[in-house]
Amino acid sequence: MSKPVFLIGYMGSGKSTAGRKLARMLGYAFEDTDELIASMTGKTIEEIFDSEGEDAFRILEHSVIRSLAGRVNTVIATGGGAPCYFDNLSLMQRSGITVYIKLNPVSIVKRLSQSKTNRPLIKKIGHDQLLPWVTRHLEQRALFYEKAHIIFKGENPDLNELAGQIKSFRP
Ligand code: S3P
Repeated sequence: MSKPVFLIGYMGSGKSTAGRKLARMLGYAFEDTDELIASMTGKTIEEIFDSEGEDAFRILEHSVIRSLAGRVNTVIATGGGAPCYFDNLSLMQRSGITVYIKLNPVSIVKRLSQSKTNRPLIKKIGHDQLLPWVTRHLEQRALFYEKAHIIFKGENPDLNELAGQIKSFRP
């Protein structure tokens, strides 16, 4: 039995897509914290932000991460803010292997602009403002992301390589 793998990183960095593929490669189950929150509440993430606010969302996110900490053989894609609230990061570090899918702000903005997912945090940011906003926001969040056990470049990800790094990872 192996510890869970937590994928962390900025919005739009491809955690869910990479996570699904990685889980298949490793023969692990796959979970996505945003999907679990949506199915628990019967609301979309956007609806939760609109009706209950971000703080309520963070509490739900924290309880989902706590409930996943004891999992084995599971790849877990987390929301972009997850490692930055409560003790989520240390909880993930203690109970599993954390992987930061790292992209530069230009790649992130490109992917966010093409994405169909509604992301409440960037909803009100004008297209022209998105790159400077993401650059600043990523700078703050990178303080958390960079603490991951494995830092993996997300621009042209070789998931076979990542699967190998995870298998050979010794804390
Ligand atoms: C958030 C990222 C989103 C989602 C919510 C908040 C964040 O997930 O959890 O909109 O704070 O960065 P993705 O990283 O999958 O976009």
